[in-house]
Amino acid sequence: MFQNSLEYAKKQDAEDALAAFRNKFHIPKDASGKELIYLCGNSLGLQPKITSEYIREELTDWANLGVEGHVEGKHPWLPYHEFLTENMAKIVGAKPSEVVVMNTLTTNLHLMMVSFYQPTKTKYKIVVESDAFPSDKYAVESQLKFHGFDPKDGLILWKPRKGEVLCRFEDLEEIMKTHGSEIALLMIGSTNYYTGQSFPLKKITELGHKYNCKVGFDLAHGAGNIQPNLHETGADFAVWCTYKYLNSGPGSLGGCFVHERHANNEQLNRFAGWWGHNKKTRFNMRQDFDALPGAEGWQLSNPPILSMAAIRASLDTFAEAGFENLRKKSIKLTGYLEFLLDEMKNDAINVITPRNPEERGCQLSIQVKNADKSLHTKLTEAGVISDWREPDVIRVAPAPLYNNFEDVFRFSEKLKDVLKN
Ligand SMILES: Cc1ncc(COP(=O)(O)O)c(C=O)c1O
Repeated sequence: MFQNSLEYAKKQDAEDALAAFRNKFHIPKDASGKELIYLCGNSLGLQPKITSEYIREELTDWANLGVEGHVEGKHPWLPYHEFLTENMAKIVGAKPSEVVVMNTLTTNLHLMMVSFYQPTKTKYKIVVESDAFPSDKYAVESQLKFHGFDPKDGLILWKPRKGEVLCRFEDLEEIMKTHGSEIALLMIGSTNYYTGQSFPLKKITELGHKYNCKVGFDLAHGAGNIQPNLHETGADFAVWCTYKYLNSGPGSLGGCFVHERHANNEQLNRFAGWWGHNKKTRFNMRQDFDALPGAEGWQLSNPPILSMAAIRASLDTFAEAGFENLRKKSIKLTGYLEFLLDEMKNDAINVITPRNPEERGCQLSIQVKNADKSLHTKLTEAGVISDWREPDVIRVAPAPLYNNFEDVFRFSEKLKDVLKN
């Protein structure tokens, strides 16, 4: 179905209903002003051109109104996070009451574990996938220690089999069969940062719940990439960042999902702050904490509006494109990348990401023989922005909002050249 030619790639772009969205982004350029091939939305998404306008609006309101901007701004700061909720809920497949934008990913993960990791003496273990992102692993280990458990005993790794790189669901079933009665929490990355493998979230949730465990997901590499359908999965919680596929700028705020069945659950521990308190009485002060129902009740602080303005700009762009359209394009674009890599028939590289589009997002992880990092350096010198993850992987992620078939084709030509030399 695909063809290995620039002409074919250009034809796909000409027929792509989403092609015009590329012009809505700043594409990084080299010193001579030539556009780089940017395939790194898995790390930091590109800047929508409207972002500066959205941020400027808030700076102007701040300049002109000072503190009154909280209520009199064009987009008043007091309820500002609410302007993000509906679009964000669509992106992760949740009800608006289940979603809030606040803090950053690792902070939210800790807040969620305060509520959803309530171990007992006998049921206290936590399962993570074996190559979970370091921050997740550190967070989980520190929660175990905080509750007086030794991570060496309390942390169970869902590992690939010997000689394999991907995790099999059957092996998680086996872990649950053997240790289910001791496990309190399954905390899994929805799409693994290293391999690009997307896990079956609903099946994992059902499995965890069958053994009376809580289940949470890290969607850092899922949000804005795959459709996680969070509400339907039944997961207890999820957390994600917005600076990767959601294009909201370096270090921007994270998102958090709490399933609606926990909206008013007073049995849960919670670390509280005034932004999680009843909006009607928040400014009466001196009141006992009265949690807002739903995910909003987990907020701590009044949020950084400039960062939220960038998220609003990005979410408006996503809403205009339509997430389903983006996902359809993404499957085709990454399929094209896979086809071109296959065509190279070069045993110095090996794609370790699953071949089934249902089991991956837009990223392909290219494992390099003998962990030869110079391949990545040479690609960078040739004008490709991708990233290297130790020990031996180049991650390449064509993002359907701003990448096109020509980017993918040109990348494959550059990779071919570099491999030849
Ligand atoms: C899978 C995953 N989890 C957690 C993090 C940490 O995110 P933050 O620095 O926003 O806490 C990242 C960052 O890239 C990540 O990729």
